[in-house]
Amino acid sequence: MKKIISLEQLSVGMNVVALDRSWLETNLLFHRFRVDSPNDIEKLRQNGVRKVTVELPDGSPTEAATGKNLPQRTEPEPEKRTEAPRMREIGLPPPATIRHWMALQNKTVNVVKKSFNEVRMGESFHVLPLRQQVVETIECTLNDPQSTSYLVALSENDDETYVHSTNTMILTLGLAAIAGLPREEQVRWGLAALLHDIGKALIPPDLLKKSGPFSELEWLTIKKHPALGHALLSKNKDETVRGLCATVALEHHERGGGTGYPSGLDLPDLNKLSRSFMAIDIYEALTAGRVYRSPASPGKTLAYLLEAARGAIDPAAVSDLIHLVGVYPVGSVVELADQRIGLVTDYESPETHDGRVGILILFERLNRPVKKPFRETLPTLDKTTVRKTYHHREVGLSPEQIADSLVLGHSGKGATQSAFDLEKIKKAEQHF
Ligand SMILES: [Fe+2]
Repeated sequence: MKKIISLEQLSVGMNVVALDRSWLETNLLFHRFRVDSPNDIEKLRQNGVRKVTVELPDGSPTEAATGKNLPQRTEPEPEKRTEAPRMREIGLPPPATIRHWMALQNKTVNVVKKSFNEVRMGESFHVLPLRQQVVETIECTLNDPQSTSYLVALSENDDETYVHSTNTMILTLGLAAIAGLPREEQVRWGLAALLHDIGKALIPPDLLKKSGPFSELEWLTIKKHPALGHALLSKNKDETVRGLCATVALEHHERGGGTGYPSGLDLPDLNKLSRSFMAIDIYEALTAGRVYRSPASPGKTLAYLLEAARGAIDPAAVSDLIHLVGVYPVGSVVELADQRIGLVTDYESPETHDGRVGILILFERLNRPVKKPFRETLPTLDKTTVRKTYHHREVGLSPEQIADSLVLGHSGKGATQSAFDLEKIKKAEQHF
């Protein structure tokens, strides 16, 4: 039985299955663990956690002792459950690990910088050190691909283009691992991310450092970097560099409906990685703090991407990114642990995605709409409570229906089954 309890009620031996703070808002890599010592509770406190969801055996004394002050809502037991791992094994990484991650990230930034400088000097850059950084990053995040978004948040370096290339590589590896790609393919994806902006090495550095606004000529110059990168990479001896890397360098600013540059290609005409990479490229650029710009929150950025996914960005790529980052903005469609699918309608604290979350339950499971959508409030949404995310189109909902559902979700009124087009749902399922 799952219960939400305050930190004061938490004691050694309890199994924590969720926290009241989103993954990016704490330094805790894992939100599912067994409390092993008072120190573990202290770590939660230090990370601003006020309430946790714990799993209690039915009728346990602990349940009776804490039950008085607890919400009455219970959730069904999962069919099969393994014991939650101990916090000391998988919880907050020791400082040495964090230092190792940061050193790895900084080294990658420097290797990227060196490659850019080699290109600026008219020399050919070395692929091997770049590939090595990709492989080391994969090794580092092997057991938890989703820690890639944590690694990106650690970034303290402000050397924009190189940090951006490094961080997009880290996030791309997270997506590649979650997609279950073979290791060598993950390396290819990582390398393509590291090199996507290499064409910028041939743009005047002063222009790159400028925060804008750009003159028309300056803008035209910047927009040359995909073609410059492609021309450079397609001459490389390395097959991956002159193939996938050159393609992604050329295509990463194309957009749906032919609204991007340099060629005005539509999404179906682009390489799959280029389509996934667009969402990562925008996400990293907006969420990373820069000298002249404060960072946007992951939630706001993902909400912006959801909006962009109406046409400019591949909806599946946005959905994958939301799953990777573990922040579920209002308007996102989530599949819960019990397979029900619902729309996130509101957060108690919208800025931080904190506190209880309102969900409008739309489907009993994929393809099976509920007779009448209904609102439910959950203590939290994180990687332990969300199995999967969908773009609304993937479950057959139009943006208008989403807007209507958000209103319904807030007012608590029901909707009719006719709001959902089963044919569309079935068609969409073919793309999962
Ligand atoms: Fe770019």
